[in-house]
Amino acid sequence: MDPSSFDVLTTAVLLLDGNHCIRHANTAAEEYFGLSRRQLEGLHADDLVKCAQSVLKVPLQGLSWAWLYEIPMRQTRFDDREQARVGQDAQRESLRNLAHEIKNPLGGLRAAAQLLEADLVDSRLRDYTQIIITETDRLVGLVDRLIKPQSKKLKVQRFNIHEVCEHVYTLLHAEFGQKVMIVRDYDASVPDITADFSCVLQVLLNLGRNAGQALTEGPVTIKPRLVLRTRVGHQLVLAHQQVRMGLIITVQDNGPGVPEALRDKVFHPLLTGRANGTGLGLSLAQELVQQQGGIIEFESEPGHTEFCVMLPLESR
Ligand SMILES: Nc1ncnc2c1ncn2[C@@H]1O[C@H](COP(=O)(O)OP(=O)(O)O)[C@@H](O)[C@H]1O
Ligand SMILES: [Mg+2]
Repeated sequence: MDPSSFDVLTTAVLLLDGNHCIRHANTAAEEYFGLSRRQLEGLHADDLVKCAQSVLKVPLQGLSWAWLYEIPMRQTRFDDREQARVGQDAQRESLRNLAHEIKNPLGGLRAAAQLLEADLVDSRLRDYTQIIITETDRLVGLVDRLIKPQSKKLKVQRFNIHEVCEHVYTLLHAEFGQKVMIVRDYDASVPDITADFSCVLQVLLNLGRNAGQALTEGPVTIKPRLVLRTRVGHQLVLAHQQVRMGLIITVQDNGPGVPEALRDKVFHPLLTGRANGTGLGLSLAQELVQQQGGIIEFESEPGHTEFCVMLPLESR
């Protein structure tokens, strides 16, 4: 077998000897680890792949190598990803149009209730006009949240992601710290990113709050734990592009997991699994991240849920 034939693959492949030392690494593995083939050769593979999300270990027999390790690199095909994104965009667009249609008559309703209230002789009836006004305001708030992301212009600046993470940590600690252990697992070597600070903050807060809520509402979780993790990723397939290097911020929890019925459409707007949820948190987060050339992916099973925000650091 010619090991160079692995170079055409987009998954990282390592060929190891019986001591689990690397004897050959393909091009994707060089990109993945940010090390040249020469630098990789001789290293102990098990130490190296520790941070990889999943590794397929295949024993080889009758060949010059004892093991083949394969590290899938966020495998969703670009076309599938693109198709899902276009679908989500179209859906948001029609929701936005609907929101505009709802918003216009709401203004009229509110004004009419105010006029009515001013002319009421029996003050007890004010309770009713107040209900109309406050409920109208609530609806306006909801439709505003549907319309907003598109109207917001990005304010791009350079910053360190840990500034945002610390902010999120403080807020989550204040809200869930009594019940949930919140762990910070930062890679201090992560380079600065160019993005919209407040958008990234909003995104991580939405994910963090979802995790906190999953851990504290509904089925009881033993030793509830939320992890905020930062890593550099290589060869990431993002919303519109594949990038050489990207930032991965993971919000992980050991709660009950995303309800089975929601898993395929958890990023769709207005879908919620919580009694008083709006179903807008994830859809907004995905949209904000995509506007910045990134993507959010998730994996979930009972006891382990991860939402990964991937943002570009360096293009090809
Ligand atoms: N970490 C998580 N663990 C379990 N379920 C989650 C998690 N994050 C999101 N979900 C599910 O996804 C749904 C949609 O989330 P979101 O869009 O933020 O809306 P909301 O929080 O208002 O319900 C939630 O209602 C919940 O059922
Ligand atoms: Mg939410």
